[in-house]
Amino acid sequence: MKKGLILVNAYCETNSNLNQSKRLKEELELLCVSVDIQKNDSFSASINSSGDIVYSNLNYDFCVYLDKDKYLSNMLQSKPIRLFNSHNAIQVCDDKMLTHIALANKNIPMPKTLAGLLCYTLGSTVKEDTLDKIEKELGYPLVVKNSFGSLGEQVVLVNNRQELKEISQKLIFKPHIFQEYIKESSGVDIRVIVVGKKPIVGMKRVSKVDFRSNIELGGVGEKYEIDNSLASLCTKVSEILNLDYCGIDILVSNNGYMVCEVNSNAFFGGIEAVTGVNVAKVYAEYIYKQIYGV
Ligand SMILES: Nc1ncnc2c1ncn2[C@@H]1O[C@H](COP(=O)(O)OP(=O)(O)O)[C@@H](O)[C@H]1O
Ligand SMILES: [Mg+2]
Repeated sequence: MKKGLILVNAYCETNSNLNQSKRLKEELELLCVSVDIQKNDSFSASINSSGDIVYSNLNYDFCVYLDKDKYLSNMLQSKPIRLFNSHNAIQVCDDKMLTHIALANKNIPMPKTLAGLLCYTLGSTVKEDTLDKIEKELGYPLVVKNSFGSLGEQVVLVNNRQELKEISQKLIFKPHIFQEYIKESSGVDIRVIVVGKKPIVGMKRVSKVDFRSNIELGGVGEKYEIDNSLASLCTKVSEILNLDYCGIDILVSNNGYMVCEVNSNAFFGGIEAVTGVNVAKVYAEYIYKQIYGV
């Protein structure tokens, strides 16, 4: 009997999250794979008092890891169970700075990006001198992002020194990045879903109310025909990051496409509704082929 596991985060119970596991389960079951959905709070991997990783309830052919909990994925990778996506890919995509570093030196266009300084000293204040350097490098407006944010919620446009100072202080103990603002792309980006290194479908997102085009913040999606240069950029990104599945956000600059971020667990509900493409089916078929062949 063919058996697969879908692993989800115990705290993520929004409709978009629930839809993701439900749809994928449906499509895998159409391929005659029986699927269980498990939350990370089933502690299916842990370390015992002999210092070994032990597993429970993991008698499956594969695991679709719809979570981003890097500790569990790390422990699971030492059990011979194929993870979609791999632990490494999930970890790198979860952290926006790690994503930019992984894509650097590989001829992938990206906005100029500075890593926010990691601070380990309680009570610290951001130095004026540091702000001088950020300001000089990026000018205003500039973009600040929490490295682990999603849905646009932790992406901010900073217009002047005072705002820069405030946000930098607020984020001093959180990993964050400073980034060049691609103003031509204000309120516009392209989300491309890639399965097994192949771009499957594109959606242009346009917001009239915000520089962030996320649907959750008022962006409106429409189908976008993926041209050759976008296709080869997205394939290359997913190859470098070794992703089975992802959603890549692309900015449209005066010099062409630029990678904004890569989501290893991109929701497909919205893009399916806008484009009519059955992304869950494509992903389920890809998984099936990887595990069982043909
Ligand atoms: N450097 C930038 N220049 C212009 N717009 C940006 C830039 N970075 C992000 N955006 C806009 O903000 C949105 C959210 O940023 P993103 O990095 O994708 O974070 P999130 O993970 O929260 O979606 C993007 O979809 C894009 O519309
Ligand atoms: Mg995004």
